[in-house]
Amino acid sequence: MTDIAIEFSPAAAPLAEKLLGSAREILARYPAGRERSALLPLLHLVQTEEGYVSPSGVAFCAEVLGINKAQVGAVATFYTMYKRRPTGEYLVSVCTNTLCNVLGGQEVYDRLTEHLGVGHDETTADGKITLEHAECLAACDYAPVVTVNYDFTVDQATPESAVELVDSLAAGERPTPARGARICSLKEMQYQLAGFADPRDGAVGDGMAGAPTLRGVRLAQEHGVAVAGFDPETPITRTKPAREGDALPTPAPVANTADDKATAEKPGKVASVVKAATTAVKAVAGKVEERRHAGHQTEDPQIRTAELRNPTASEPAQPGAQAGGPPPGNAAERAGAAASAPAGDGKPAGDSPRTPDPSRGTEEEK
Ligand code: FES
Repeated sequence: MTDIAIEFSPAAAPLAEKLLGSAREILARYPAGRERSALLPLLHLVQTEEGYVSPSGVAFCAEVLGINKAQVGAVATFYTMYKRRPTGEYLVSVCTNTLCNVLGGQEVYDRLTEHLGVGHDETTADGKITLEHAECLAACDYAPVVTVNYDFTVDQATPESAVELVDSLAAGERPTPARGARICSLKEMQYQLAGFADPRDGAVGDGMAGAPTLRGVRLAQEHGVAVAGFDPETPITRTKPAREGDALPTPAPVANTADDKATAEKPGKVASVVKAATTAVKAVAGKVEERRHAGHQTEDPQIRTAELRNPTASEPAQPGAQAGGPPPGNAAERAGAAASAPAGDGKPAGDSPRTPDPSRGTEEEK
């Protein structure tokens, strides 16, 4: 696909002019025929130029990948990192999830909304800052946290430190973050998220984990708690059948145990059970027939049940009897059948006309 010439629609053409080279680099990372998996980095690529997933960005992704715009839209609207409207140069995210919240995250967010005059997912008039409240930013050990373009910028934030941050961003500064890489613009961050290295100095930050992250380890050390030793040579237990190419387990020798014999004889046993059941049914049917001719009832419960269900099975059907079912077997059933015999108008005979309710009036009166 990376070599195929694509004729872009007017909606996608301006973006294609700027982004097609990078898009082809992204597509080349995926196996042939699997390029549509490149949609996620392509959407970030669109944001490097547009600052959000614009309609022309959707058209561009769809035409590069040979999918439709609805498929692109379905992905772009699923993830919060794909913005649906123009976003500021700095996306300031305040975590208001459980741990950050109990430690003051909501107060930080509230102070920023008041100070900036914007709410969630809104951008200041100068286009500098977009504010959002975020769910866990994966830094609970530093709660409450504030990120700028997804970099950890203020740890253990307070309303005052958060206001200081946004004032400095609004003034065109790029303050040194609490941890990690130097602050960049949202479009620069999108370029990294699309899978391209950022050549700026300090664009990538690393370093030792900080004290709050290591607190648990330190406590464990102080109290002499350690995980059990692990020998890397420990063989891994196999719980699934061996795959092709693996050594197959030696089949167990055939044992002449009683269980083996029972298994081998299973089909024969089933056949004999079926035969016994058939014989028993025939015997009951014969007894029923004998009783009918003798003209009296039996105390045998099996025969008694069969008689009740179908006492006249050998007699011709009575006129008026319903087709498709046995005649009623007892007094109650016979009474019910009589009450439900079809009437001339096709309604069950037992369905007597309703007595009109005087309080409701007649059809004519209504
Ligand atoms: S709850 Fe805020 S970073 Fe986890």
